[in-house]
Amino acid sequence: MLKRSHNCGELRNENAGQEIVLNGWISKRRDHGGLIFIDLRDRYGKTQIVFNEELHEDAYKQIFRLGLEDVIGVKGVVVARPTEAINSEMPTGEIDVEVREIHVFNEAEPMPFNVNDRNSASEDHRLKFRYLELRTKELQANLKLRHESAQITRQFLHDEDFIEVETPVLMKSTPEGARDFLVPSRLHEGKFYALPQSPQTYKQLLMVSGFDKYFQIVKCFRDEDFRADRQPEFTQIDIEMSFIDQEDIIDLGTRLTRKLWSETINAELPEQFPVLNYYDALEMYGNDKPDTRFGMELQEFSEFVQQSEFYAFKSVLDNGGRVKAIVAPACAKYSRKIIDELTNFVKQYHNAKGLAWMKAGDNVLEGGISKFFPETIQKDIIENCKVNEGDIVFIIGDDAKVVFSALSALRLEIAKRENLIDPNVWAPLWVVDFPLVEWNEDEKRWDALHHPFTSPNFKDMDKMDSNPGEVRSLAYDIVMNGYEIGGGSIRIHSAELQAKIFTILGIGDDEAQEKFGFLMNAFKYGAPPHGGMAFGFDRIVMLLANCTQIRDVIAFPKTTSAISLMDESPANVDEKQLQDLHLEIIRAKS
Ligand code: AMO
Repeated sequence: MLKRSHNCGELRNENAGQEIVLNGWISKRRDHGGLIFIDLRDRYGKTQIVFNEELHEDAYKQIFRLGLEDVIGVKGVVVARPTEAINSEMPTGEIDVEVREIHVFNEAEPMPFNVNDRNSASEDHRLKFRYLELRTKELQANLKLRHESAQITRQFLHDEDFIEVETPVLMKSTPEGARDFLVPSRLHEGKFYALPQSPQTYKQLLMVSGFDKYFQIVKCFRDEDFRADRQPEFTQIDIEMSFIDQEDIIDLGTRLTRKLWSETINAELPEQFPVLNYYDALEMYGNDKPDTRFGMELQEFSEFVQQSEFYAFKSVLDNGGRVKAIVAPACAKYSRKIIDELTNFVKQYHNAKGLAWMKAGDNVLEGGISKFFPETIQKDIIENCKVNEGDIVFIIGDDAKVVFSALSALRLEIAKRENLIDPNVWAPLWVVDFPLVEWNEDEKRWDALHHPFTSPNFKDMDKMDSNPGEVRSLAYDIVMNGYEIGGGSIRIHSAELQAKIFTILGIGDDEAQEKFGFLMNAFKYGAPPHGGMAFGFDRIVMLLANCTQIRDVIAFPKTTSAISLMDESPANVDEKQLQDLHLEIIRAKS
């Protein structure tokens, strides 16, 4: 074979006169009667190679019948281009290669879509031919960035004395909130392994084993509903440490994030990230992963409602609900049609019963529900909520959950419509002081907000029995531009406290023993205080690559309905395979 001496991104003026060999794909072709110009591409770049009928007739004849994406090897001589022909956009734009000999490795059939232009085909079509989409310069760059981010992470954690330990992929189910993917056992009839939602229990066991600082860049599996930033299998940078407190993890996580941002995209993040507690995050932004690149925080509105004649909201308050507002700057221009669109948006996606509004004139509120608010109250609203002339105030009164989710979504929607988000700004922050448990109304029991191994905040231990809902945990999330890019907690390291938490969560002794006996037993043999976190690696790379969906930074992703369009998984299996696994499919009656 004609083995390459250089890659397609490498040749410069100083190589002029050298005989070289390049291997690559035909990316572009221009015919100029007797002269054919080809852009030869590999992952390092493109080089223009020239076939001259007069000088090298054999090579010219061969290239004549070749097409885009054929794979070839060429031997030729590097020629400096005359000044007027230099292409300064291309790193190899100073030279051409005059081809003397060509070898065809593989001829391509007509392409299902143009790999020089991702937008030339629908996403489903591209996913079916993902290996071709991966030839596009965007995805080549994204996967390179992903690789570099993994290298930086490994180096950073290695330098900090962490060791990478691999943990099993076939395990017992861990309760991380999502549904497990199960793997039936052939050898043990009726039994199943679960794919790890995260290596949570193993990393805690490694602390009991004395490994002190563990990390792993690891695949995790969760059978949940998918969104742009979720995949059924995704990658975590998983971290656990012994003899540390929350501040130590926050410090380490901040330094790793800063390093990743600075070394991949040259962005300098602040030395310390703002820390917001969960309740403030909820009150100010309506959610626990706020995008703080712009203001428009949620405002308390109940005291104005109390003094108004707007009975719908008064009764919301009487029934234990909440009334909050956002002030959309310079949006009094919104027509009835836009307001209707926004109303539908909060109703459809967030179950809000409605969206009230008032527009700000000169020191007065107009339209919408303004007539229910006496002039003095309007002045108070204008002053307290910092309303300017030309703004619009949107108000929602409902159950607290609905108010928070609808207003936080509306805040983002308006920010997008009004271009309030500077795309060049990075807004990292930590959210801390999450509640330990939350009430599950359907099941009438307390659920762990993070996971059942999370330590309560020792300052709140006195409320543990009387009012578990008010106990804060030692859990924290790291948020970037409105995305939760990581989370973790200080863990319980005492078997007694762990047993107590299981009781609060309604997990009986037998169930606890069956599910987590191995972990609780381990705590009996010398468990160090420990804690950790996991970063969502795909989400980090998505942000670094300036993409809006994690599919763009995963080589072979699934669709939002968890299908791989390329290899068509999930797929049927043979009856024999099912028999070996002691399984029978019960088809739903249609
Ligand atoms: P958690 O469940 O918060 O914590 O997950 C950690 C981070 O992983 C990312 N993530 C996902 N990314 C893509 N697709 C998904 N389906 C998905 N689910 C989660 C998020 C999230 O912040 N064991 C604990 C960590 C710990 O306590 O140490 C855990 O897994 O960015």
